[in-house]
Amino acid sequence: MTTTAALSLGLSDRTVFVAGGGSAGPGWSIGRAACVTYARLGARVCVADRDRTSAEETTQIIRSEGGTVDTFVGDIANEDDVVRMFAEAKARFGVIDVLHRNVGIGKTGGPLDTKLEDFDLAQSVNVRSLLLASRQVLPDMIEQGRGSIITISSVAGLRYLGYPHLSYCVTKAAVIQFTRMLAQQYAANGIRANTVVPGLIDTPRIANTVAKMFSETSLDEARAARAKQVPLGRMGTAWDIANACAFLASDAAAYVTGTELVVDGGLTGKFA
Ligand SMILES: NC(=O)c1ccc[n+]([C@@H]2O[C@H](COP(=O)([O-])OP(=O)(O)OC[C@H]3O[C@@H](n4cnc5c(N)ncnc54)[C@H](O)[C@@H]3O)[C@@H](O)[C@H]2O)c1
Repeated sequence: MTTTAALSLGLSDRTVFVAGGGSAGPGWSIGRAACVTYARLGARVCVADRDRTSAEETTQIIRSEGGTVDTFVGDIANEDDVVRMFAEAKARFGVIDVLHRNVGIGKTGGPLDTKLEDFDLAQSVNVRSLLLASRQVLPDMIEQGRGSIITISSVAGLRYLGYPHLSYCVTKAAVIQFTRMLAQQYAANGIRANTVVPGLIDTPRIANTVAKMFSETSLDEARAARAKQVPLGRMGTAWDIANACAFLASDAAAYVTGTELVVDGGLTGKFA
């Protein structure tokens, strides 16, 4: 019988493409923390984002630590941009071994007050972009006989969290099922596909999106109210999610596919 001596998260011979590797504001988004974590584990990292300045910031952090990295700029929901970004990334670093589809958007609102264009945009950015991006990596992964695709959903894709966020919740649920489909179809090719399901995470984007659902008056009050909901007593950090992604990217997760890794401090268990 073969035995493995220790857990290995090393990614030193791998190229990782992170779609949404910048940050919606100053500080640590999930995408930025994931890029830095992959690089610290030895991966070559493609930081892709539509916001060049923010992507460059992530790239500079990795460069300053001696990592191998480059920036690729474009809209992950635009087919021409996607084809170009992946072509540039492959020309720079070769085959993509790990696709981390990080981007997720959505405006708060229910069926009566969600604008159709906002609903369509969430579908396009959160779901259709998965189709575009996975088409760019699957042929090489099939040829190599290995690959890992990591998608990011949300507990909002599993449960009602107390306020209407329809376009976001519906598309985050679709991300999970899309990923399960990928996993089943390509398991025989050695390709794994899994979804990380973050809970309430303290990233810069919450100031622009859901904070107002927790307090009309102050961001600190909103952050405290959000933290109070979580059984572990705090919001998650971008690093809590990045660590889960690193596990799924690595060979330590060699037998993990077609599933969801919920990283939520116990939140969804409260509503089970
Ligand atoms: N922060 C939370 O509480 C939380 C909770 C659950 C799930 N999530 C999910 O985690 C993921 C990452 O969240 P975050 O807070 O790190 O994100 P973020 O909002 O900071 O976004 C990361 C990057 O995505 C880029 N981006 C947005 N639309 C893009 C597009 N069309 N093309 C290319 N780049 C685009 C932004 O420019 C930004 O730099 C998202 O899918 C989000 O839905 C976040």
